[in-house]
Amino acid sequence: MAKEIKTIAVLTSGGDAPGMNAAIRAVVRKGINNGVRVKGIKRGYQGLLAEEIVDLERSDVSEIIQRGGTILGTARCMEFMTEEGQQQGAEICRKHGIDGIVVIGGDGSYRGALSLSRNGINTIGIPGTIDLDIACSDYTIGFDTAINTAMEAIDKVRDTSSSHERCSIIEVMGRNAGYIALWCGVANGAEDILIPEKYDYNEQTIINNIIQNRKKGKTHHIIINAEGIGHSTSMARRIEAATGIETRATILGYMQRGGSPTCKDRYFASIMGAYAADILCEGKSNRVVAFRDGKFQDFDIEEALVMSKSIDEYQYEVSRKLSQ
Ligand code: ADP
Ligand code: F6P
Repeated sequence: MAKEIKTIAVLTSGGDAPGMNAAIRAVVRKGINNGVRVKGIKRGYQGLLAEEIVDLERSDVSEIIQRGGTILGTARCMEFMTEEGQQQGAEICRKHGIDGIVVIGGDGSYRGALSLSRNGINTIGIPGTIDLDIACSDYTIGFDTAINTAMEAIDKVRDTSSSHERCSIIEVMGRNAGYIALWCGVANGAEDILIPEKYDYNEQTIINNIIQNRKKGKTHHIIINAEGIGHSTSMARRIEAATGIETRATILGYMQRGGSPTCKDRYFASIMGAYAADILCEGKSNRVVAFRDGKFQDFDIEEALVMSKSIDEYQYEVSRKLSQ
Protein backbone atom coordinates (compact mmCIF):
# COMPACT_ATOMS: atom_id res chain seq x y z
CA MET A 1 0.00 0.00 0.00
CA ALA A 2 1.30 3.48 -0.89
CA LYS A 3 2.38 5.44 2.16
CA GLU A 4 0.14 8.25 3.31
CA ILE A 5 1.50 11.66 2.26
CA LYS A 6 1.04 14.34 4.89
CA THR A 7 3.97 16.65 4.21
CA ILE A 8 5.77 17.40 0.98
CA ALA A 9 8.77 19.63 0.26
CA VAL A 10 10.15 21.43 -2.75
CA LEU A 11 13.73 22.29 -3.71
CA THR A 12 15.54 23.78 -6.70
CA SER A 13 18.86 22.28 -7.78
CA GLY A 14 21.57 22.74 -10.42
CA GLY A 15 21.60 25.83 -12.65
CA ASP A 16 18.70 28.18 -12.01
CA ALA A 17 16.16 28.96 -14.71
CA PRO A 18 13.48 31.64 -15.10
CA GLY A 19 10.14 30.11 -14.13
CA MET A 20 11.46 28.11 -11.19
CA ASN A 21 9.58 30.47 -8.85
CA ALA A 22 6.35 29.88 -10.72
CA ALA A 23 6.91 26.14 -10.28
CA ILE A 24 7.61 26.53 -6.53
CA ARG A 25 4.42 28.60 -6.18
CA ALA A 26 2.39 25.93 -7.97
CA VAL A 27 3.79 23.09 -5.84
CA VAL A 28 3.02 25.00 -2.64
CA ARG A 29 -0.48 26.08 -3.58
CA LYS A 30 -1.59 22.81 -5.19
CA GLY A 31 -0.10 20.85 -2.31
CA ILE A 32 -1.98 22.92 0.27
CA ASN A 33 -5.08 22.61 -1.88
CA ASN A 34 -4.66 18.83 -1.74
CA GLY A 35 -4.58 18.98 2.06
CA VAL A 36 -0.87 18.42 2.74
CA ARG A 37 1.68 20.62 4.51
CA VAL A 38 4.43 22.04 2.29
CA LYS A 39 8.02 22.87 3.19
CA GLY A 40 10.74 24.62 1.21
CA ILE A 41 14.31 23.33 1.24
CA LYS A 42 16.86 26.05 0.58
CA ARG A 43 19.98 25.70 -1.63
CA GLY A 44 19.14 22.33 -3.19
CA TYR A 45 20.66 19.18 -1.71
CA GLN A 46 23.25 21.25 0.13
CA GLY A 47 20.45 22.96 2.07
CA LEU A 48 18.81 19.59 2.72
CA LEU A 49 22.00 18.29 4.36
CA ALA A 50 22.31 21.55 6.33
CA GLU A 51 18.61 21.25 7.35
CA GLU A 52 17.72 24.61 5.85
CA ILE A 53 14.04 23.78 5.81
CA VAL A 54 11.16 26.24 6.17
CA ASP A 55 7.38 25.95 6.25
CA LEU A 56 5.66 27.46 3.24
CA GLU A 57 2.13 28.85 3.25
CA ARG A 58 0.13 30.20 0.31
CA SER A 59 1.15 33.77 1.15
CA ASP A 60 4.86 32.87 1.22
CA VAL A 61 4.74 32.37 -2.53
CA SER A 62 2.84 35.57 -3.34
CA GLU A 63 4.51 37.98 -5.74
CA ILE A 64 7.05 35.48 -7.03
CA ILE A 65 5.48 34.21 -10.26
CA GLN A 66 6.99 37.13 -12.20
CA ARG A 67 10.46 36.90 -10.64
CA GLY A 68 13.52 35.28 -12.21
CA GLY A 69 15.93 33.09 -10.21
CA THR A 70 14.63 30.93 -7.38
CA ILE A 71 13.47 32.18 -3.98
CA LEU A 72 14.75 28.93 -2.46
CA GLY A 73 18.24 29.37 -3.88
CA THR A 74 20.07 26.57 -5.69
CA ALA A 75 23.41 24.83 -5.38
CA ARG A 76 25.58 22.03 -6.58
CA CYS A 77 26.36 19.63 -3.74
CA MET A 78 29.22 17.15 -4.02
CA GLU A 79 28.42 15.56 -0.65
CA PHE A 80 25.07 14.43 -2.02
CA MET A 81 26.86 12.38 -4.69
CA THR A 82 27.98 9.98 -1.94
CA GLU A 83 25.84 7.20 -0.48
CA GLU A 84 26.38 8.56 3.04
CA GLY A 85 25.16 11.98 1.92
CA GLN A 86 22.07 10.49 0.30
CA GLN A 87 21.21 8.38 3.35
CA GLN A 88 21.72 11.41 5.58
CA GLY A 89 19.40 13.42 3.28
CA ALA A 90 16.68 10.78 3.62
CA GLU A 91 17.15 10.68 7.43
CA ILE A 92 16.78 14.46 7.58
CA CYS A 93 13.55 14.22 5.57
CA ARG A 94 12.19 11.67 8.05
CA LYS A 95 13.27 13.86 10.99
CA HIS A 96 11.30 16.79 9.52
CA GLY A 97 8.30 14.62 8.66
CA ILE A 98 8.84 15.07 4.91
CA ASP A 99 7.19 12.20 3.02
CA GLY A 100 8.03 13.36 -0.48
CA ILE A 101 10.02 15.99 -2.38
CA VAL A 102 9.53 17.84 -5.66
CA VAL A 103 12.94 18.46 -7.22
CA ILE A 104 13.10 21.22 -9.82
CA GLY A 105 16.26 20.92 -11.95
CA GLY A 106 18.01 18.92 -14.63
CA ASP A 107 19.32 15.38 -15.10
CA GLY A 108 21.87 15.64 -12.27
CA SER A 109 19.15 16.72 -9.87
CA TYR A 110 16.99 13.75 -10.92
CA ARG A 111 19.86 11.40 -10.06
CA GLY A 112 19.78 12.94 -6.59
CA ALA A 113 16.01 12.42 -6.49
CA LEU A 114 16.45 8.80 -7.54
CA SER A 115 18.85 8.21 -4.66
CA LEU A 116 16.37 9.72 -2.20
CA SER A 117 13.56 7.52 -3.47
CA ARG A 118 15.84 4.47 -3.07
CA ASN A 119 16.26 5.58 0.54
CA GLY A 120 12.50 5.68 1.12
CA ILE A 121 11.59 9.30 0.33
CA ASN A 122 9.10 9.76 -2.50
CA THR A 123 10.42 12.06 -5.24
CA ILE A 124 9.09 13.80 -8.33
CA GLY A 125 11.30 15.78 -10.75
CA ILE A 126 10.33 18.81 -12.83
CA PRO A 127 12.47 19.86 -15.84
CA GLY A 128 13.98 23.22 -14.92
CA THR A 129 16.85 24.23 -17.20
CA ILE A 130 17.35 26.85 -19.87
CA ASP A 131 19.13 24.28 -22.06
CA LEU A 132 16.04 22.26 -23.18
CA ASP A 133 18.19 19.15 -22.77
CA ILE A 134 15.91 16.85 -20.80
CA ALA A 135 15.34 13.89 -23.09
CA CYS A 136 11.89 12.85 -21.88
CA SER A 137 10.40 16.33 -22.26
CA ASP A 138 9.83 18.51 -25.30
CA TYR A 139 9.91 21.53 -23.00
CA THR A 140 12.01 22.66 -20.05
CA ILE A 141 11.22 25.58 -17.77
CA GLY A 142 13.40 28.61 -18.55
CA PHE A 143 14.15 27.89 -22.20
CA ASP A 144 11.66 30.38 -23.62
CA THR A 145 12.85 33.25 -21.43
CA ALA A 146 16.50 32.46 -22.16
CA ILE A 147 16.05 32.42 -25.94
CA ASN A 148 14.06 35.65 -25.89
CA THR A 149 16.69 37.35 -23.74
CA ALA A 150 19.43 36.13 -26.06
CA MET A 151 17.46 37.04 -29.19
CA GLU A 152 17.01 40.63 -28.06
CA ALA A 153 20.69 40.94 -27.19
CA ILE A 154 21.73 39.48 -30.55
CA ASP A 155 19.50 41.97 -32.41
CA LYS A 156 21.40 44.75 -30.65
CA VAL A 157 24.80 43.34 -31.53
CA ARG A 158 23.63 42.97 -35.10
CA ASP A 159 22.80 46.72 -35.33
CA THR A 160 26.32 47.77 -34.40
CA SER A 161 27.86 44.94 -36.39
CA SER A 162 26.11 46.15 -39.56
CA SER A 163 27.06 49.79 -38.96
CA HIS A 164 30.73 48.86 -38.69
CA GLU A 165 30.54 46.19 -41.37
CA ARG A 166 31.97 43.69 -38.92
CA CYS A 167 31.68 40.02 -38.36
CA SER A 168 30.27 39.11 -34.93
CA ILE A 169 30.56 35.88 -33.02
CA ILE A 170 27.93 35.72 -30.29
CA GLU A 171 28.28 32.96 -27.74
CA VAL A 172 25.11 31.67 -26.11
CA MET A 173 24.71 29.17 -23.27
CA GLY A 174 24.51 25.43 -23.74
CA ARG A 175 27.47 23.40 -22.56
CA ASN A 176 26.26 20.13 -24.00
CA ALA A 177 23.21 21.16 -26.00
CA GLY A 178 22.78 23.46 -28.99
CA TYR A 179 19.06 24.26 -28.67
CA ILE A 180 19.54 27.87 -27.54
CA ALA A 181 22.02 28.47 -30.36
CA LEU A 182 19.79 26.82 -32.96
CA TRP A 183 16.66 28.72 -31.97
CA CYS A 184 18.44 32.07 -31.74
CA GLY A 185 20.39 31.38 -34.91
CA VAL A 186 17.14 30.93 -36.82
CA ALA A 187 15.24 33.71 -35.04
CA ASN A 188 18.09 36.20 -35.48
CA GLY A 189 18.83 35.23 -39.07
CA ALA A 190 22.42 34.31 -38.27
CA GLU A 191 24.76 33.41 -41.10
CA ASP A 192 26.39 30.55 -39.18
CA ILE A 193 25.16 28.47 -36.23
CA LEU A 194 27.72 26.37 -34.38
CA ILE A 195 26.32 23.72 -32.06
CA PRO A 196 28.15 20.94 -30.20
CA GLU A 197 25.96 18.23 -31.76
CA LYS A 198 26.92 19.20 -35.34
CA TYR A 199 29.99 21.41 -35.60
CA ASP A 200 32.87 19.79 -37.49
CA TYR A 201 35.49 22.29 -36.24
CA ASN A 202 36.31 23.29 -39.82
CA GLU A 203 36.82 27.05 -39.54
CA GLN A 204 37.75 27.30 -43.19
CA THR A 205 34.09 26.69 -44.15
CA ILE A 206 33.06 29.65 -41.98
CA ILE A 207 35.83 31.81 -43.42
CA ASN A 208 34.79 30.98 -46.99
CA ASN A 209 31.19 31.75 -46.10
CA ILE A 210 32.14 35.17 -44.70
CA ILE A 211 34.20 36.06 -47.79
CA GLN A 212 31.40 34.98 -50.15
CA ASN A 213 28.79 36.92 -48.21
CA ARG A 214 30.95 40.05 -48.27
CA LYS A 215 31.27 39.69 -52.06
CA LYS A 216 27.46 39.46 -52.24
CA GLY A 217 27.28 42.79 -50.42
CA LYS A 218 26.26 41.67 -46.92
CA THR A 219 27.37 44.26 -44.37
CA HIS A 220 27.45 41.92 -41.41
CA HIS A 221 28.05 38.29 -40.60
CA ILE A 222 26.54 36.90 -37.43
CA ILE A 223 27.86 33.62 -36.05
CA ILE A 224 25.96 32.12 -33.14
CA ASN A 225 28.33 29.92 -31.20
CA ALA A 226 27.15 27.57 -28.46
CA GLU A 227 29.05 27.56 -25.16
CA GLY A 228 29.86 23.88 -25.70
CA ILE A 229 32.13 24.91 -28.60
CA GLY A 230 33.29 28.08 -26.87
CA HIS A 231 36.59 29.84 -27.61
CA SER A 232 34.73 32.71 -29.30
CA THR A 233 37.44 35.29 -28.64
CA SER A 234 40.27 33.27 -30.18
CA MET A 235 37.96 32.24 -33.03
CA ALA A 236 37.30 35.94 -33.71
CA ARG A 237 41.05 36.63 -33.88
CA ARG A 238 41.61 33.79 -36.34
CA ILE A 239 38.67 34.79 -38.54
CA GLU A 240 39.81 38.42 -38.63
CA ALA A 241 43.32 37.34 -39.61
CA ALA A 242 42.04 35.06 -42.37
CA THR A 243 39.38 37.37 -43.84
CA GLY A 244 40.77 40.83 -43.13
CA ILE A 245 37.28 41.72 -41.81
CA GLU A 246 37.06 43.17 -38.31
CA THR A 247 35.60 40.47 -36.08
CA ARG A 248 34.34 40.80 -32.52
CA ALA A 249 33.21 38.24 -29.98
CA THR A 250 30.36 38.78 -27.50
CA ILE A 251 29.72 36.25 -24.77
CA LEU A 252 26.18 36.66 -23.46
CA GLY A 253 26.75 34.46 -20.40
CA TYR A 254 24.60 34.45 -17.30
CA MET A 255 22.23 37.20 -18.42
CA GLN A 256 20.46 34.36 -20.27
CA ARG A 257 19.64 32.64 -16.97
CA GLY A 258 18.06 35.68 -15.35
CA GLY A 259 15.10 37.96 -15.87
CA SER A 260 11.36 37.84 -15.51
CA PRO A 261 9.99 34.62 -17.05
CA THR A 262 7.93 34.78 -20.23
CA CYS A 263 4.27 33.83 -20.24
CA LYS A 264 5.18 30.42 -21.69
CA ASP A 265 7.65 29.68 -18.90
CA ARG A 266 5.20 30.80 -16.21
CA TYR A 267 2.47 28.66 -17.74
CA PHE A 268 4.55 25.49 -18.14
CA ALA A 269 6.06 25.94 -14.67
CA SER A 270 2.62 26.39 -13.12
CA ILE A 271 1.12 23.31 -14.76
CA MET A 272 4.20 21.16 -14.14
CA GLY A 273 4.44 22.29 -10.51
CA ALA A 274 0.77 21.51 -9.87
CA TYR A 275 1.09 18.15 -11.67
CA ALA A 276 4.10 17.22 -9.54
CA ALA A 277 2.27 18.12 -6.32
CA ASP A 278 -0.74 16.05 -7.43
CA ILE A 279 1.15 12.86 -8.23
CA LEU A 280 3.32 13.20 -5.13
CA CYS A 281 0.17 13.52 -3.01
CA GLU A 282 -1.27 10.45 -4.77
CA GLY A 283 1.72 8.49 -3.46
CA LYS A 284 3.68 8.26 -6.72
CA SER A 285 7.47 8.33 -6.51
CA ASN A 286 10.53 8.31 -8.71
CA ARG A 287 8.76 10.11 -11.59
CA VAL A 288 9.68 13.07 -13.81
CA VAL A 289 6.99 15.44 -15.06
CA ALA A 290 7.31 16.09 -18.78
CA PHE A 291 5.57 17.77 -21.68
CA ARG A 292 5.70 15.35 -24.57
CA ASP A 293 3.63 14.82 -27.71
CA GLY A 294 1.45 17.79 -26.80
CA LYS A 295 0.49 16.70 -23.30
CA PHE A 296 1.72 16.75 -19.72
CA GLN A 297 2.70 13.30 -18.51
CA ASP A 298 5.19 11.62 -16.19
CA PHE A 299 7.98 9.10 -16.67
CA ASP A 300 9.95 6.80 -14.41
CA ILE A 301 13.17 8.66 -13.48
CA GLU A 302 15.45 5.77 -14.41
CA GLU A 303 13.75 5.40 -17.79
CA ALA A 304 13.90 9.17 -18.31
CA LEU A 305 17.63 9.23 -17.56
CA VAL A 306 18.47 6.71 -20.26
CA MET A 307 16.34 8.39 -22.92
CA SER A 308 18.17 10.47 -25.50
CA LYS A 309 17.18 13.37 -27.66
CA SER A 310 18.91 14.93 -30.60
CA ILE A 311 18.68 18.03 -32.73
CA ASP A 312 16.02 17.53 -35.38
CA GLU A 313 17.74 17.01 -38.76
CA TYR A 314 15.11 18.86 -40.77
CA GLN A 315 15.16 21.90 -38.48
CA TYR A 316 18.95 21.98 -38.58
CA GLU A 317 18.97 21.75 -42.39
CA VAL A 318 16.44 24.58 -42.61
CA SER A 319 18.59 26.72 -40.34
CA ARG A 320 21.49 26.27 -42.76
CA LYS A 321 19.45 26.97 -45.89
CA LEU A 322 17.84 30.13 -44.51
CA SER A 323 21.19 31.64 -43.62
CA GLN A 324 22.66 31.38 -47.14
P1 ADP B 1 21.33 19.72 -13.21
O1 ADP B 1 20.30 19.23 -12.27
O2 ADP B 1 20.99 21.06 -13.77
O3 ADP B 1 21.68 18.68 -14.26
P2 ADP B 1 23.85 19.13 -11.84
O4 ADP B 1 24.23 18.06 -12.79
O5 ADP B 1 24.88 20.10 -11.43
O6 ADP B 1 22.63 20.02 -12.36
O7 ADP B 1 23.24 18.41 -10.55
C1 ADP B 1 22.73 19.16 -9.47
C2 ADP B 1 23.00 18.44 -8.18
O8 ADP B 1 22.32 17.18 -8.16
C3 ADP B 1 24.44 18.07 -7.90
O9 ADP B 1 25.20 19.13 -7.38
C4 ADP B 1 24.29 16.97 -6.87
O10 ADP B 1 24.03 17.51 -5.60
C5 ADP B 1 23.05 16.25 -7.36
N1 ADP B 1 23.47 15.11 -8.18
C6 ADP B 1 23.96 15.11 -9.43
N2 ADP B 1 24.29 13.86 -9.83
C7 ADP B 1 24.01 13.04 -8.79
C8 ADP B 1 24.11 11.63 -8.56
N3 ADP B 1 24.60 10.82 -9.50
N4 ADP B 1 23.70 11.15 -7.38
C9 ADP B 1 23.20 11.96 -6.44
N5 ADP B 1 23.08 13.30 -6.59
C10 ADP B 1 23.45 13.84 -7.73
O1 F6P C 1 21.68 25.87 -16.67
C1 F6P C 1 22.35 25.31 -17.73
C2 F6P C 1 23.63 26.04 -17.97
O2 F6P C 1 23.30 27.37 -18.14
C3 F6P C 1 24.46 25.56 -19.11
O3 F6P C 1 24.11 26.06 -20.36
C4 F6P C 1 25.82 26.02 -18.68
O4 F6P C 1 26.82 25.29 -19.26
C5 F6P C 1 25.79 25.81 -17.22
O5 F6P C 1 24.45 25.94 -16.84
C6 F6P C 1 26.68 26.72 -16.47
O6 F6P C 1 26.36 26.69 -15.13
P1 F6P C 1 27.31 27.14 -13.94
O7 F6P C 1 28.34 28.05 -14.50
O8 F6P C 1 26.37 27.79 -13.00
O9 F6P C 1 27.91 25.89 -13.41
